[in-house]
Amino acid sequence: MFQIKLKNNKTFSCDKDSTIFEAAKKNNILLEHSCLSSRCRSCAVKVLSGKTINKEEELVLTEEDKNENFVLSCNAKPLSNIELDIEDLGEITLFEKKIIPSKISVIEKLTNDVIKVVLRLPPNSNFRFNSGQYVNIIKGNLTRSYSIANCSDHKNQLEFFIKNYENGLMSSYFFKEAKINHLLRLEGPIGTFFLRDSSFKNIVFLATGTGVAPIKSILEGLDKSHEQYQNKNLWLFVGARYQEYLFWEPNLKNLNIKYIPVLSRQVNDWNGEKGYVQDIVLKQQIDLENTQVYACGSNDMINSAKELFFKNNLKENNFFSDAFVQTN
Ligand SMILES: Cc1cc2nc3c(=O)[nH]c(=O)nc-3n(C[C@H](O)[C@H](O)[C@H](O)COP(=O)(O)OP(=O)(O)OC[C@H]3O[C@@H](n4cnc5c(N)ncnc54)[C@H](O)[C@@H]3O)c2cc1C
Ligand code: FES
Repeated sequence: MFQIKLKNNKTFSCDKDSTIFEAAKKNNILLEHSCLSSRCRSCAVKVLSGKTINKEEELVLTEEDKNENFVLSCNAKPLSNIELDIEDLGEITLFEKKIIPSKISVIEKLTNDVIKVVLRLPPNSNFRFNSGQYVNIIKGNLTRSYSIANCSDHKNQLEFFIKNYENGLMSSYFFKEAKINHLLRLEGPIGTFFLRDSSFKNIVFLATGTGVAPIKSILEGLDKSHEQYQNKNLWLFVGARYQEYLFWEPNLKNLNIKYIPVLSRQVNDWNGEKGYVQDIVLKQQIDLENTQVYACGSNDMINSAKELFFKNNLKENNFFSDAFVQTN
């Protein structure tokens, strides 16, 4: 048995055959995660002292990450006592993952390549999640991850924004075959992309493409408990290539949020911001030292935002992201 110590001095035991994540969970300590299969990087953590061995090759970590002693907690097993440069998620409740049936109740075209799909859950399903989490949608033997786009107060209707990936198997189902009342199974909730307690003055939300789904979920949840956020500055930056690809904008009753759409390719007929969302955040001159960032969408946007913001004083623990990497 080895001892694993976190930055906040919490300690747990881990045998040589368990991953750091598995051992933490067994000891009721929750660590940041998403895919639990070495694909998304959500669980990357810096090893401050001690040695680990990987279950499988860590393809999502760069050479630079590896040189700086980053490992994936869902993949790394201990070879000695270990000290990690992370804290756990604290008192957050993560609802147990389960598999439930659902039926399609809405299919609505939003753009040329994005549809909204609403799945109806059985009245007794008691499905609970934290706004921002995702589920696996299962169709026969095909499983793909999709973020829930409405908040946890869902009344047995879960909303999704689904993009048409060229030659994609699940895309082909949703865009060519799906019909009202088709039966699909859901597995979830999954992931740790949800709002954290924050004493920070600013909260920045960044989304590209269907990455607006979990951000919409979080914001709709926030709108219901807006009193706590009245003294904070909130920004939402949504990136798309062209104006016709912007399919959602916030329509919140109570929450005061500055919404800034950003187009990367359109040069004409657009008076708004042009370029990449992460660059436009910097242009707003937000005090990043006093900010939490929630980013969702492509891996490229997330990596580039992270690098840019860390260079501009954002603290490493204040960047939360969900990369829509390939699921299968
Ligand atoms: C945590 C998480 C949440 C997600 N949430 C959403 C969501 O809310 N809405 C949504 O539309 N998608 C979301 N995705 C992506 C989704 O899970 C699938 O990857 C996507 O729908 C494609 O599946 P497919 O079966 O159509 O394509 P596949 O048959 O798996 O692949 C077809 C082609 O598309 C490429 N491809 C597949 N997936 C991706 C990808 N994610 N990025 C780039 N290229 C890809 C493949 O390389 C291949 O060339 C999420 C992924 C993750 C990990
Ligand atoms: S890589 Fe570990 S949770 Fe995704």
